[in-house]
Amino acid sequence: MLVVEKNNLSYEIERMVKEYGSDRQSLLQILQAVQKKYKHISDFAQQEIARMMNIHPVEVYSVISFYSFLSTEPKGRNIVRLCKTIACDMAGKDAVETAVKRELGISFGETTIDQRVSLEYTNCLGMCDEGPAMLINEKVYTHLNPEMAVNILNEIK
Ligand code: FES
Repeated sequence: MLVVEKNNLSYEIERMVKEYGSDRQSLLQILQAVQKKYKHISDFAQQEIARMMNIHPVEVYSVISFYSFLSTEPKGRNIVRLCKTIACDMAGKDAVETAVKRELGISFGETTIDQRVSLEYTNCLGMCDEGPAMLINEKVYTHLNPEMAVNILNEIK
């Protein structure tokens, strides 16, 4: 990472720590803000957050690894999460999964080369009677079939 990028990241994290506070309860909010802006939380960002909050970097990392929506690796501009829990599974999740993978040319856990989409599984989205369900960024799509899922994917930029 270039020195200028590091300085900008440090400055931005400092601003977030000022905004949300430097006590432990603010850690998750700060991590969410960094994730939202940079699409991941790099090693350097983790160290800077720990330094500014006066906590150990391992504490920062353990929170990141607990929450599936936080990541240490760069993600695509859009995060597509397909529910893998039983009700959606029984409602036809496998067919949607196959269509989505074929359309994007990647597997779950991967990101398209153009950084447009990252594919992930998620646990229950609370829409069990409307499955299969899929979350794209913050929007939930329900009653999916393979064709619908592919059409939705083709609409996201
Ligand atoms: S099982 Fe998929 S939303 Fe609940």
